[in-house]
Amino acid sequence: MDYIEENLDEIDPMKMKALENKAEKSGISKLLLMENAGAKLAVEIIKKFKDIKNKNIIIVCGSGNNGGDGMVCARHLCNFSKSISLFLLTSGELIKTKENKTNWQIIKQIKSISIYEYIDDEKFFNKFREVSESADIIIDSIFGTGLKGSIKNPASQIIEIINKSNSFKVAVDIPSGIDPNNGNIQDKCVKANMTVTFHKSKPGIKNKINITGEVIVVQIGIPPELENQL
Ligand SMILES: NC(=O)c1ccc[n+]([C@@H]2O[C@H](COP(=O)([O-])OP(=O)(O)OC[C@H]3O[C@@H](n4cnc5c(N)ncnc54)[C@H](OP(=O)(O)O)[C@@H]3O)[C@@H](O)[C@H]2O)c1
Repeated sequence: MDYIEENLDEIDPMKMKALENKAEKSGISKLLLMENAGAKLAVEIIKKFKDIKNKNIIIVCGSGNNGGDGMVCARHLCNFSKSISLFLLTSGELIKTKENKTNWQIIKQIKSISIYEYIDDEKFFNKFREVSESADIIIDSIFGTGLKGSIKNPASQIIEIINKSNSFKVAVDIPSGIDPNNGNIQDKCVKANMTVTFHKSKPGIKNKINITGEVIVVQIGIPPELENQL
């Protein structure tokens, strides 16, 4: 078995970042970790929905590595579902990380995925409202452990639309808006039905089932000895 369900061992976000850096130094690149994370996330979604090919799926991506995990997931899911829409909550030029930029360049070439890039407020929000009305699954890869301060637009408004939707919501690593260290919600937060978190759970999502839904921990290929060396 290459994944563990309900493994509630925790790692705090600072230690997780240090571990990712350690993994990179040992030759496991952050791009490879992102690929593993997005692919494992797709597997969990496919396992959850037996009729995945008939599902309308939205992936909402932020500008950091959490967004990159969502893009990888979208690429893996496009072999299983014909209806995938990806909303990027920034313009492609403003994507923050190298790994997310790489995945954006790849995903832009996939014609079977409908891609919407944030440029203009009203058009973007209207499109998101329209597509989310018929969505069966919304994947929240807006913010993971890198959220700082109160949530700015467009993410703020998009989170409100996601929470009003009747779709099944999947949070990537943690629900966007929750503090990964202590579980505090500064202003708003995605309310998920399922949270797929990477390597180990995070302290801020412990006992928060109303916000996280079911928590599933997936392994992304970081060997335990690297953690013992931190
Ligand atoms: N590559 C890896 O090694 C690896 C492995 C496993 C998982 N991950 C994933 O990477 C995630 C962490 O990625 P990350 O550190 O890049 O952080 P992130 O969670 O993706 O969030 C950072 C992004 O959010 C934006 N942001 C932060 N606060 C905001 C606010 N209040 N309002 C609007 N935008 C805001 C930042 O933009 P500004 O800078 O402009 O504020 C930045 O682009 C994890 O949660 C996990 O999902 C990565």
